[in-house]
Amino acid sequence: MTAANRPWPTPGIRFCPCLIGTADLESGAGLPLTRAGLPPMETNTAQEHSLRGSSEVKHFYDGVGWEQHESGKTYDRHLFGSRARGTLQERGDYLREARVRAAFDPLPERPALLECGAGGHPAAYLADLFSEYMLLDFSQAGLKAGTKVLGEDGVVAISTEGDMCRLPFADNSYDAAFSANAIYHIPEPAGQRAAFSEMMRTVKPGGVAVFVLANPRPLGFPVQLLKRVIADTPLLSTLANRLRPKPPLPYKPMTLGWTRRALEPFGMVRMSSFAMASMWFRRHVPEKHVGRPLWRFLLWLERTYPRLSALLGNYVLIVVRKTPSQG
Ligand SMILES: C[S@@+](CC[C@H](N)C(=O)[O-])C[C@H]1O[C@@H](n2cnc3c(N)ncnc32)[C@H](O)[C@@H]1O
Repeated sequence: MTAANRPWPTPGIRFCPCLIGTADLESGAGLPLTRAGLPPMETNTAQEHSLRGSSEVKHFYDGVGWEQHESGKTYDRHLFGSRARGTLQERGDYLREARVRAAFDPLPERPALLECGAGGHPAAYLADLFSEYMLLDFSQAGLKAGTKVLGEDGVVAISTEGDMCRLPFADNSYDAAFSANAIYHIPEPAGQRAAFSEMMRTVKPGGVAVFVLANPRPLGFPVQLLKRVIADTPLLSTLANRLRPKPPLPYKPMTLGWTRRALEPFGMVRMSSFAMASMWFRRHVPEKHVGRPLWRFLLWLERTYPRLSALLGNYVLIVVRKTPSQG
């Protein structure tokens, strides 16, 4: 589904200046202090190091990740996306976009959105819901690509270069926050916890944060589940790393239980399915022959049993409504 044939309105021009931040990520100096931002943080100790995003990920996305591959897709989509999307996958994308949009309901007047880790694939389908759209990413190339993509849809976004583990924004400054497929690239669980707590700090009381994350224990995909169990078991993962090629990027999806426990202190947490299919399935099972009924079945499950599908499938949608302030 393209922007042109989506049922919801194509977003109009937003009335906010476009600003690409030029921060020094090591010291925090020069971080744009949007919405009465915070002083830069010093991060010197090993413990503080675990509270950061991965420099390997940043270099990948600043280097080739958001460049165009000869297939016409970005390298990110070329490496991690579907090989051939058919009509069933398009219908699945439409269902997901509609669900993410519904997760923000209700919104106040003139709401402001913060999207973290959007890179060159921002959630353009959300833009018409918001009066202000802030993109944050630690890849400058990602911010450039993301701003361009939104611009092509008529949306003028503000962008800030920064690490989502230490956001340069004041407490309670956004009505809503969104992050898709980014937090599992933060290598340490402590860093992922920091990203959650930073996004929840930045969201106003009563506001909502929405995350798209991977499920490392998809009960309906036993091979995928076994691979993650091996990757999460120290001795077995050392052995497996000797036998297979290194994954292109650090990838550490945390279990749904861990994620729920990390988010529950901030408010009410709801988990449902985002997408059943694994990356392998999307890349290797085309929508023809025996693949077509399989795709149809996955879509039916996602649509009919979203909670059960969260446990069975590979990607989850997590919605956190921040506890309203007391008194
Ligand atoms: C896999 S891409 C996801 C892009 C998009 N959200 C999507 O769903 O297709 C991950 C993006 O997150 C960014 N990212 C990863 N870790 C980050 C961090 N700690 N702080 C800020 N951005 C980060 C990367 O630079 C990249 O642009």
